[in-house]
Amino acid sequence: MATIISGKEVAAELRQQIKIEVQNLKNRGITPTLAVILVGDDPASKVYVRNKSNACNEVGIAYEEYTLPTETPENQLIDLVQTLNQSPHVHGILIQSPLPAGLDFKKVLEILSPEKDVDAFHPYNVGKIMIGDYEFLPCTPAGVMELIHKTGVEVTGKNCVVIGRSNIVGKPQAMLLLKENGTVTICHSKTKNLKEITRQADILIVAIGKGEFVTGDMVKPGAVVIDVGMNRNAEGKLVGDVNFAQVEPVAGYITPVPGGVGPMTITMLLKNTVKAAELSEKKCNGSLKL
Ligand code: GUN
Repeated sequence: MATIISGKEVAAELRQQIKIEVQNLKNRGITPTLAVILVGDDPASKVYVRNKSNACNEVGIAYEEYTLPTETPENQLIDLVQTLNQSPHVHGILIQSPLPAGLDFKKVLEILSPEKDVDAFHPYNVGKIMIGDYEFLPCTPAGVMELIHKTGVEVTGKNCVVIGRSNIVGKPQAMLLLKENGTVTICHSKTKNLKEITRQADILIVAIGKGEFVTGDMVKPGAVVIDVGMNRNAEGKLVGDVNFAQVEPVAGYITPVPGGVGPMTITMLLKNTVKAAELSEKKCNGSLKL
């Protein structure tokens, strides 16, 4: 029987800490502020954005939403990003993806000031993660690391297997595990003999977006299993990328879906927003001294 790692509980603890940090900043005259840009009316994006707004409210971060119609021309979106880059009261900027067809997320992202990039999606911040010298960590992989730390299992020297190679989870996740001295393997849709590899994993992280893909026979007994997936099964039930019923008896630790990685992701966004506000404060103090 595995120990269940409750992301919900870990996130609640972290949010208490973040609340204190926000108050400390406010006491010094700075209100950490997150600006979210939502273009179009994708229903899932609307839900994500509402959750972000609620989470900001919970910890005292000021939240500004910029909603633009689906037909927004790219130059108008770029103008908005540039205006927010220049706004001293805005510390973090998040461009909700996906953008409607015709708008190039990559191009808009490159306009975003890396100092306000609380998603850590800008190529500059991605590069910083690669060299292990970063201000912001991407929210989901950072949340996963927090959950691994909660188990008390040391990453150093462990076989860590990441299934999935996306730019926002799989690749940065591998870098964070490597930074903590894990022996890291990234698997993906073209990987041969997947089961042989996953069965070697002391720490297994699954981010492929395929409902209940990882079965009990793919897991090493006692492993730490972190499930990043969020899928609807045939009955419309929310399930992860891991078959929980099969894997839970084999694993040492496992995250549930829902209530695992999900609540951690927004919490890391809050953390990055506080960090961005602290960085702007430092920069401001530095320039005052000059
Ligand atoms: N769309 C779904 N999740 C995310 C996220 O974490 N950040 C952004 N910018 N867009 C998303």
